[in-house]
Amino acid sequence: MASNEFVGRLIAATDGTLDEIAAGLREFDPAEVAVAVLGEVLARAPQFDGPAEPFVVQFELGANSYLVTLNEGKIEPGRLDEPWLVIRQDLAELVQAVFGPSCDHVTRDVFFKEEPGPTTWQQDDPWLGPRAEATKAAHQVLKACSVYHADLDTLAVRFDTDKWGGHWYTPHYQRHFAAYQAKRVTVLEIGIGGYDLPDVGGGSLLMWKHFFRRGLVYGLDIYDKTGLDQPRLQTIKGDQNDPVFLEQLGQSIGPIDIVVDDGSHLTEHVVTSFNALFPHVRPGGLYVIEDLQTSYWPGYGAGESMGLLKTLLDGLHHQEQVHPVTPGHTDLNIDSITFHHNIAFIHKGRNSEPGAPSWISRTGEAVQSWTP
Ligand SMILES: C[S@@+](CC[C@H](N)C(=O)[O-])C[C@H]1O[C@@H](n2cnc3c(N)ncnc32)[C@H](O)[C@@H]1O
Repeated sequence: MASNEFVGRLIAATDGTLDEIAAGLREFDPAEVAVAVLGEVLARAPQFDGPAEPFVVQFELGANSYLVTLNEGKIEPGRLDEPWLVIRQDLAELVQAVFGPSCDHVTRDVFFKEEPGPTTWQQDDPWLGPRAEATKAAHQVLKACSVYHADLDTLAVRFDTDKWGGHWYTPHYQRHFAAYQAKRVTVLEIGIGGYDLPDVGGGSLLMWKHFFRRGLVYGLDIYDKTGLDQPRLQTIKGDQNDPVFLEQLGQSIGPIDIVVDDGSHLTEHVVTSFNALFPHVRPGGLYVIEDLQTSYWPGYGAGESMGLLKTLLDGLHHQEQVHPVTPGHTDLNIDSITFHHNIAFIHKGRNSEPGAPSWISRTGEAVQSWTP
């Protein structure tokens, strides 16, 4: 399995033109690159519900060939005498299509196995079944080998997170995250799901991984979830209410482009996490707090997270305060806060616009007349 660090370097090598990517890939072992890129293709096309028999695609990537078994998730070097499906493509071009921000052009060749076919046309000819399965499989694989646009509602349902259905957050996420979709982002979500069941949860992390097709996704949970780790998705065990641990985490994975807090929803925890992690959010990034309803519920430490957000809103307007305040990090580095039902998106950006001119009365005098 390709490590996050390796895939991150590979994604970083795909920012240029195809020639630059090909030159950059000389630094890498081609076999490692092929396994990483084919692993991503497999991860993108797992809904394959084709033939019961293992369906093998032969990828011919320059000098080397690989056999990818869709229904078993297997990748191995090799060739078959009569493969059902052959995809022949330059390795750099495939890497650009899968991991790059866009794709210059596609020059790949796709071949199906030549079947003898029926001598006379019959609707139930045994030859037609496998051919139809192969067509479905080819469609899935070729889509997965292309610049990939996944939408969050669909991904939420596919990976079973309640961000669509239980809550209705994904349309808001789609809108706020669209600008980051093709970027090389680092995403951290607090709260992996499944609580103390080690192999349960991770639905939303998979959703982020598929949405941010060039992103590295980290999930934090109080329970050990390492069984859910996979390329571009790493779990971390820790307490979102421990500021020392969070500071170390921010230093090791930051700067972070997007933080999503979907952890305990205890408002004390929400505030601790925000205070510790927001300084590690990259300018232009977002910090999202879900399930703000708990701020109205006594059992969760009522008021603190909405209190935090009100303080941040006041900070956004610190230039307008009657009694001058010395602006702090959040006052100077939050340029918008958007609320939807139970969720807030805090955008990190320079907030240095001057306040209203000082000659305008703060006491409300002379608001109804003007003497030129
Ligand atoms: C609502 S679930 C997360 C669901 C997941 N984000 C999704 O959308 O599929 C909340 C998770 O937060 C974790 N959690 C609870 N308290 C925590 C804490 N203090 N620090 C970190 N994680 C915590 C729980 O173990 C649980 O797995």
